[in-house]
Amino acid sequence: MKICFCNGKGGVGKTSLSVLVSLALAQAGKDVSFSDRDGQRTASQCLGQIEGTGVTLRESGGDVVIVDTPPNLESDGFLSAVKESDIILLVTSPSPADLWTSIKTAEILNRLKRKDAIIKLLFNRVVAGSRLEKQREFIVEQIGLTPVREVVHQRMAYQMALLEGWAGLSPEAREEIFRIGLAIIA
Ligand SMILES: Nc1ncnc2c1ncn2[C@@H]1O[C@H](COP(=O)(O)OP(=O)(O)O)[C@@H](O)[C@H]1O
Ligand SMILES: [Mg+2]
Repeated sequence: MKICFCNGKGGVGKTSLSVLVSLALAQAGKDVSFSDRDGQRTASQCLGQIEGTGVTLRESGGDVVIVDTPPNLESDGFLSAVKESDIILLVTSPSPADLWTSIKTAEILNRLKRKDAIIKLLFNRVVAGSRLEKQREFIVEQIGLTPVREVVHQRMAYQMALLEGWAGLSPEAREEIFRIGLAIIA
C-alpha cells in the first residue's frame, strides 16, 4: 500500500505528518518504507538521524510505503507520487482560506490519480476546542471532500518529534498519531 501526503502549498504539515505516521506504523509492527520526493530532503534528514525508527528510506518494499511530496503541483515528485498512490492525503489546516486552495489541489488530484485510488482530506494544526474544530464536518460537506475522521491538533511536541522521533512524543501525542495512522489504513 502506498500513501502520499500532498498539497500545492508549503507549510501545511506534509513532511511532519508523513514522518509521524511512518513512525507510528513502524511502532505498530509494520515494515515501513519512506520515499522522500521533496528536493528539500527534510524527511530524509530527520529519519536518517533518529536511531531505531523501524522506518527504511527506500522507494518500495515492506507493508506500506509513505511518500512525502514537494509543494509544487508541476514537479515530478508530486506527479509521480499521486499517480502511484493507493491513498492520497490532502493535508490542510481547517481554515477556510486554506480549504479553498485545497479544492483546487483536489481537482488536480482527481485528474491524476488511479481510478481505484482514494483522496482524503487530513486536517492538521487543529486548535483543540476551536470553532473550526467543531464546524469542520459542515465545512467539509460544503466542499465535497471526504476527511480522515481523526484530526491532528496543534502541538509543539510534533515539532520536536522531527528531531527526537517517537521517543520525543508525550503519551497523548502518540495516541493521536496512532489513531490517525489507523484511520488512514482502515
Ligand atoms: N500539528 C502541528 N503542530 C505544531 N506544529 C506543526 C504541526 N504540523 C506542522 N507543524 C510545523 O509547521 C511547520 C511546517 O510543517 P512541515 O511539515 O514542514 O510542512 P510542509 O512539509 O507541508 O511544508 C514546521 O515548522 C512544523 O514543525
Ligand atoms: Mg515538506
